[in-house]
Amino acid sequence: MTLFIGLISGTSVDAVDAVLCDIQPDSKIQLLHSHSQPIPTKLQSELLAFGQSRYSGDAIDQLGQLDHQVGLLFAEAVEHLLSPTNYQPSDITAIGSHGQTVRHLPEAPYPFTLQIGDPSIIAAQTGITTVADFRRRDMAHGGQGAPFAPAFHQAFFSSDTDTRAVVNLGGIANVTLLSPNQPPIGFDTGPANTLMDQWISLHQQKSYDQDGQWASSGHIHSELLEKLLSDPYFSQTAPKSTGCEYFNMEWVKAKAGTIDLASLNAEDVQRTLLALTVRTVTDAIHQQPNVDAVYLCGGGAHNRFLAGELQKQLPRTQVQTSAALGISPDWVEAMTFAWFASKTLKQEPIHLNSITGANHNHVLGGVYFS
Ligand SMILES: Nc1ncnc2c1ncn2[C@@H]1O[C@H](COP(=O)(O)OP(=O)(O)OP(=O)(O)O)[C@@H](O)[C@H]1O
Ligand SMILES: [Mg+2]
Repeated sequence: MTLFIGLISGTSVDAVDAVLCDIQPDSKIQLLHSHSQPIPTKLQSELLAFGQSRYSGDAIDQLGQLDHQVGLLFAEAVEHLLSPTNYQPSDITAIGSHGQTVRHLPEAPYPFTLQIGDPSIIAAQTGITTVADFRRRDMAHGGQGAPFAPAFHQAFFSSDTDTRAVVNLGGIANVTLLSPNQPPIGFDTGPANTLMDQWISLHQQKSYDQDGQWASSGHIHSELLEKLLSDPYFSQTAPKSTGCEYFNMEWVKAKAGTIDLASLNAEDVQRTLLALTVRTVTDAIHQQPNVDAVYLCGGGAHNRFLAGELQKQLPRTQVQTSAALGISPDWVEAMTFAWFASKTLKQEPIHLNSITGANHNHVLGGVYFS
């Protein structure tokens, strides 16, 4: 057995996902154990505010404080992941830590992406070698630094005979198109849950719309939907990636223009935001003719109304979750970073250049020995 741990806190800042995997030399992967580490409410609101440039005091001081706290939280997630098992830290080859993204600006004059959660602290606290800082290396080689999940989708979800689409519905959505014997196509399509999460939190003080129930009670506001869809991001060709610094409530208000959101039924806005996700994801899937099957992963895979609407728009293709391929939709992203750590230690490149636009396939990540 060669054991690796994967850690990620996604753009929704909903929880730290932690997985323990056995990764064989031929790259077969088996999920042995998983844990979802809640993010303390205070830290969660500080991270969300920080990401939106609402600093409390000196921004650099606050960044350092958050980097340290997220490092401690990730180490705690490892402790909780291992404690119900018989495994000791010394049994684990390495941790692959994505960290928490606080900014992703691939189109800035000097493009950068910033994930926090100090890997030195994770390695020191857990006693396990930690591989981290995956995205910046891809950017250094001219890539978008995202999305990364398509490399995992290609390795574990592709087929020799079927054309498949894998849709990761996190805060942001990314779609991977897998055709037999072809390099994968993959890109961020735009918002998945982030706008719906923000809208329901404003109106119903809930962190998300359980099963899309609230959205399902509303009606699509066609004019608003068209205004949102007019954003140039949606028609931009890949490689492309985005984040919540772009798709947020300020963006919705700006796109709505003369439509006063406050004068609309709040559930109609929610329904329209869900329609935006459905439309942009299905448009991406349609870039590949003859997709045989669609597999959903990420938290949004549990949104039954959203999954049903996607199925309606793709009547000739079965829409299922990645569980149909043997991997629970909740753990795909964390498993991606466990697998990346195994590649980094072997100094193997990760095949992302067809996705992110990097000039070559590179070894990603930096190693922090315990
Ligand atoms: N039962 C459910 N019904 C509706 N939405 C759900 C349900 N369960 C989870 N979600 C949505 O999934 C989101 C969390 O998904 P996930 O953890 O994949 O996102 P993330 O951590 O932001 O990932 P990423 O970095 O890929 O954006 C929640 O914020 C919520 O919107
Ligand atoms: Mg998450």
